[in-house]
Amino acid sequence: MAQSRSSCRLAFLLILLVVAAPVSAASPDPVRGTGGAVASAAPAATEAGLEILRAGGNAVDAAVATAIALAVVHPQAGNLGGGGFAVTRMGGKVSTLDFREAAPAAADHDMYLDASGEPVAENSLVGPLAAGVPGSPAGLWELHQRYGLLDWAQVVAPAVRLAGDGFVVTPRLERSVVKAEKLLGRFPETAAVWLPGGNPPAAGSVMTIPDLAATLLAYAKKGPEAITGGALATAIETASDRHGGILTVADLEAYRPVWREPVIFEAFGWRVASMPLPSSGGIILGQTTGLLELVKWRQAPRFGAERAHLLVEAWRRAYADRVLLGDPTTTRATAADLLDEEWFNFRVGELVSPRATPSADVRNWTPAATSESTETTHLSVADGAGNVVSITTTLNGSFGCGLLVPGVGFLLNNEMDDFAAAPGRPNLYGLIQGEANAVGPGKRMLSSMSPAVAWRENETMALGSPGGSTIPTVTAQVLLNVIVDGDDIQAAVNRPRIHHQWMPDQIAVEPDAFSPETATELERRGHKLKDRSRLGEVNVVRVTSDGIVEAAADPRGPGSAGVVQPAPGS
Ligand code: DON
Repeated sequence: MAQSRSSCRLAFLLILLVVAAPVSAASPDPVRGTGGAVASAAPAATEAGLEILRAGGNAVDAAVATAIALAVVHPQAGNLGGGGFAVTRMGGKVSTLDFREAAPAAADHDMYLDASGEPVAENSLVGPLAAGVPGSPAGLWELHQRYGLLDWAQVVAPAVRLAGDGFVVTPRLERSVVKAEKLLGRFPETAAVWLPGGNPPAAGSVMTIPDLAATLLAYAKKGPEAITGGALATAIETASDRHGGILTVADLEAYRPVWREPVIFEAFGWRVASMPLPSSGGIILGQTTGLLELVKWRQAPRFGAERAHLLVEAWRRAYADRVLLGDPTTTRATAADLLDEEWFNFRVGELVSPRATPSADVRNWTPAATSESTETTHLSVADGAGNVVSITTTLNGSFGCGLLVPGVGFLLNNEMDDFAAAPGRPNLYGLIQGEANAVGPGKRMLSSMSPAVAWRENETMALGSPGGSTIPTVTAQVLLNVIVDGDDIQAAVNRPRIHHQWMPDQIAVEPDAFSPETATELERRGHKLKDRSRLGEVNVVRVTSDGIVEAAADPRGPGSAGVVQPAPGS
């Protein structure tokens, strides 16, 4: 039985949780310490990272431990059956690791179209035909291989314990399962674990996932080959095949994470590093801050209409250019093209109007122009030596494609929907994408994930968010709150946010993001406003110039931020 309840164990875990949960996510101030900091979407995962820091691990050890723990306690997004991106700054050196899923070898350009050429959304969203080849098992291992200090088995151990000995179901997890009940109920293998007895696990109950515990134990002993080869890989192929998928053992064995050149840019006196293609995240962050600096955004009143207008006009153009982006092998524009000085100058010329530009009138970058540009999770970790790690990882939709592989214990992603199934048509996030991001065997689907690291002199921060297409704009706002307006990281995260992505041509607005006067002025300028209850869930850590480490979790979610204090007497 996948779920067991024991009041004794529950009491123990609750005590542990109270001791371990260092701060309420709605805190007005970041938590501060000196020995390291972790901010993630779940208290038990934050605690896994803190445990590894206390054991002498560095930021990478702690980030990998947190990410693997999220695969147990935050299964709607944390994962081994999905993929992600990591940005690290270790000993002053910035690196970016792409462990994004790849299309299986049998994938083809029109696989999500029906006989009349119409996209069948369900096929790229539900069941294993929607799954890309998972990148997390090899990606997290690779990150640890290059930078970790502790033994691999020690880093995986907290997750093994959580899956094997049990973890407390949080109210958020219960809510997420309730919301996804229809999806999870479609696959008996998934329902057996996540709808035991036909019902979502109750908040406060203790859950174990024995198959996942065994998978994690094998992963702890042998590394990714335990999952990408042998019996577990065969189980993945069999489960995929049973439900119409095309994933094979050969796909799993062939998958490799890739160290890529980071996108690095200057922004308001800081240097920022984020993901290059196949994520659009770094490019959109760079285009946003670059344009804002050129139009002297800092000088406009902080909460006034002019700042919001310029922000939206910058995003409108960055997302228009996103249509050209895709896997590095097929992209029709690169970071160098879109962060090019001449293209910035052209765009700045377009930003002189105080009126909203209709999105339909915004043309995207062309080579000629330069001769005159649902459920994810982010964790940020710092260690006491000032190293930082920023990881965003995802299954795409909440609980991915819904299929949990029996005997393996984890869910497969539905990342294939991030490809343009039918170029020019909107996807799950309303994003319109181009031919550069069409499905092709082995290609990596374009992402918006924007794990980022920013630094100046001896200050460093790491940040990022879930939120599909809103990830770059949400991340940009928190970054700007700190580097332009001097917010501390908790205030920067707490502030209401807005979003615009070119199409649909509207500004999504969180409650209280605009005063009534600012909203009226924006509408007068031609902007369309649309209420949105929440945008993103940003987790941030920062190393200040006096060596203090801070962590802030987003009050929009029940995430948790914690720090390691020096041992008493040290
Ligand atoms: O890679 C991407 O951009 C999307 N698959 C991310 C999905 C996501 O953020 C859903 N979370 N809320």
